[in-house]
Amino acid sequence: MHQDDKKTQVAECALEFIETRQVLGVGSGSTVNIFIGMLDKIRTKIEACVSSSNASTKLLKENNFKVVDLKEIGKIPIYVDGADEANKSLQLIKGGGGALTREKIISNNSEKFICIIDDSKMVSQLGKFPLPIEVIPMAQSAVALEMIKLGGRPVLRENFTTDNGNIILDVHNLKINEPIELEQKINNLAGVVTNGLFAIKPANKLLVADGNSVKEM
Ligand code: 5RP
Repeated sequence: MHQDDKKTQVAECALEFIETRQVLGVGSGSTVNIFIGMLDKIRTKIEACVSSSNASTKLLKENNFKVVDLKEIGKIPIYVDGADEANKSLQLIKGGGGALTREKIISNNSEKFICIIDDSKMVSQLGKFPLPIEVIPMAQSAVALEMIKLGGRPVLRENFTTDNGNIILDVHNLKINEPIELEQKINNLAGVVTNGLFAIKPANKLLVADGNSVKEM
């Protein structure tokens, strides 16, 4: 089965987890774009959406969903988003689309984070996908040097500015043996806004499409 068909399969499955009429947290990326395209099927259950990126906000509005700011809502019951990698502990690497900071803010303020992926994203150890780090521009070299000290190879994401006006360093070759410790360590560096490890607060549920069925973890 083609990867896009698996994304459709897992996006459809996620619809079942939205039970009562509620505010829905919506992530970013191609899997989520498919999910947004399906939300019309459960329109009556969606009071409003909190969005993790300008791109998702635009798509939600085009589909006539009300988008509200997280600061007006506080905690949200459910957040649906994709990932670039996931392990069996439901720890993730996110940020391939560069929306990692808003995604982490929403995830940290959601009662339930449902992550939707296809099976190509499942790994035994995180880190094959380069770890995205959102950095305040003036700290680019300083943070890059720290990443080299950790054994990584930081690469500036060319021609890219985040929705928050910052840069992304994609760090290749990191050995992520201790995801929680590494997430904390990188976030403690001056100039780092956040990094794409979602290990301190992993997903609550992982839906993985393999072409035949969707596995729930
Ligand atoms: C964006 C993300 C996405 O969830 C991640 O990149 C997966 O995207 P896709 O569904 O296109 O594979 O973290 O910042």
